[in-house]
Amino acid sequence: MAYISNEVINEIRNKTDIVDVVSKYVSLTKKGKNYIGVCPFHDDHSPSMSVSPEKQIFTCFSCGASGNVFSFVSDFEKIPFIEAVKLLGEKVGISVSGTTKIETKKDDYLEIYELANKFYQNSLFTSLGKNAISYLEERKIDKSTIKKFGIGLSIQKISLTDYLVNKKYTIDKLIEVGLTNDSGNDIFVNRIMFPIYDLSGNPIAFSGRIYNTRDTSKYINTKETDKFKKGKILYNYHLAKEHLKKNDTVIIMEGQMDVIRASTIGIDNCIATMGTALTKEHRSIIKNMTNNVVLCFDGDGAGEKATVSAIDLLEDAGVNIKVVRLPNNMDPDEYILKEGKDSFVSQIDKAMSLIDYKMELLKKDKNLTDVKDISSYINSAVRALTSVDDDIVVELNLKKMATSFNVDYETILNKYKELTKKKRLPVRKEVKQKKTYDRYRKAENNLIYYMLKDSTVINMVDKRIGYFPTQNIRDLSNEIIYYFHKYGIINVADFISYISFSEELSNTLREILAMDIKEDFQIREIEDYIFVIMEYHKKKRIEDMTKKMKEEKDPLKQAKILEEIMEIRGVKKNDTRD
Ligand code: CTP
Ligand code: MN
Repeated sequence: MAYISNEVINEIRNKTDIVDVVSKYVSLTKKGKNYIGVCPFHDDHSPSMSVSPEKQIFTCFSCGASGNVFSFVSDFEKIPFIEAVKLLGEKVGISVSGTTKIETKKDDYLEIYELANKFYQNSLFTSLGKNAISYLEERKIDKSTIKKFGIGLSIQKISLTDYLVNKKYTIDKLIEVGLTNDSGNDIFVNRIMFPIYDLSGNPIAFSGRIYNTRDTSKYINTKETDKFKKGKILYNYHLAKEHLKKNDTVIIMEGQMDVIRASTIGIDNCIATMGTALTKEHRSIIKNMTNNVVLCFDGDGAGEKATVSAIDLLEDAGVNIKVVRLPNNMDPDEYILKEGKDSFVSQIDKAMSLIDYKMELLKKDKNLTDVKDISSYINSAVRALTSVDDDIVVELNLKKMATSFNVDYETILNKYKELTKKKRLPVRKEVKQKKTYDRYRKAENNLIYYMLKDSTVINMVDKRIGYFPTQNIRDLSNEIIYYFHKYGIINVADFISYISFSEELSNTLREILAMDIKEDFQIREIEDYIFVIMEYHKKKRIEDMTKKMKEEKDPLKQAKILEEIMEIRGVKKNDTRD
């Protein structure tokens, strides 16, 4: 069998959304953060399977089936795990059999773009690049920013095509990768060149801007190629990703100039959609970076539309969304130049919460002194509030409405209650014999669950627990620690793929995932679980020693063992309490 690296499996999983895949097999309904549906793995009559877009796993609390997107397809189609990986890999354009090749051999495409990128960068600093340099200077883009973003220049008199043909690439190849047109000439002529990088930081396309000529299009971009699909690339991903270690939020903008400008004032966690609508692929990429986004699109009407559709897309995936709406139709680039760094930073810091933004948006085009408009606003606002999980936020907003429109709070509350009642789906709890676990095993299960949720727990277990009492838990814990040390990052969906080599460990993990363990935990609880495991070891040692003592014939040695037992129990010598 072909060897597939974990990195590739994880990449396929990251580009695949479990909700999309599962909903092809089972009809799903949104419920809170998750989706629920009838479980296909047992004779289910009410929806008892839950799919988490956030964690990218599914769990059936009734039959205990659980896993990631590959497990689902593998179990449903009754094919081996690896076949499910291949199947889903093809759907996202990752051919698994060719994987090892991609990793070892750099292909022509990347080589060509690397050369083209250097070529354009050099051209900018030739004597023919003077006008372009002054254009950039006028736009307050300095040399270090030019370097950082690899900005270059295409010049009519210096042909990239000729240069690359001299390097032995065929015209056909150059046409194929989108640098040369059918007549054999450069596609980009007299434009400021912004390289676009793939997720790993290889240049794979360009966006070229006019600077001193008139042209019908301000920007032209490389056509869609094998490697460059606008819907799957986010400008500045590779640089922004590095900055998320310090600040776990990504700011999403429209244009590359916005991202570049933000970086000049020290804000480096920005990416741009390059003027296209956010796609599901973008969403997976973003979710792979962080769960916190600030939408900071242009202040104009188009920017508002982009904001609303981005919310539609991201909201369901459990992303925490904040919104900035810049005044006077400005884009971030213009705003920063006009209002300065501090003002922009404060826009980001006081970005609106999603519900605040929605409430604002609903007021648009309404005359809020008109009774009819007020009523229609309250109705839609209350409806928007039904999707908010936080009761306090709901109550505060309902009260705010009551006060500002002078409507009885009870009236608004009843409206809210009416709407939430309709929304609620009847979920019949299946009464099924659940396995029971003793307190030691419970502690073990919880620790494994939280190790997969937070690396702090991994480190605590690694340092403090010599070994777990149950063999399978011990093995699972070792694998988690190993995985974390190797990749520096862990999430449950990817770990499921990794552990698929062992059916036994996969099953143990499945059981734990289907256990309905609460999501949030406190360090104090982890301490308690660790304490319970330590207690187990103590108890075990005492049992062993007691047995040994009973078998011992020599009274002196017996006394010595007894003393040791007392010591383990925490009772000191000469302590007369019993
Ligand atoms: N865009 C494009 N083709 C165009 C216009 C825009 O691909 N003809 C993309 C570019 O990636 C651009 C983004 O959409 O960065 C946003 O467009 P726009 O707001 O018009 O550009 P700005 O970011 O304002 O660029 P500039 O400040 O250089 O005018
Ligand atoms: Mn602009």
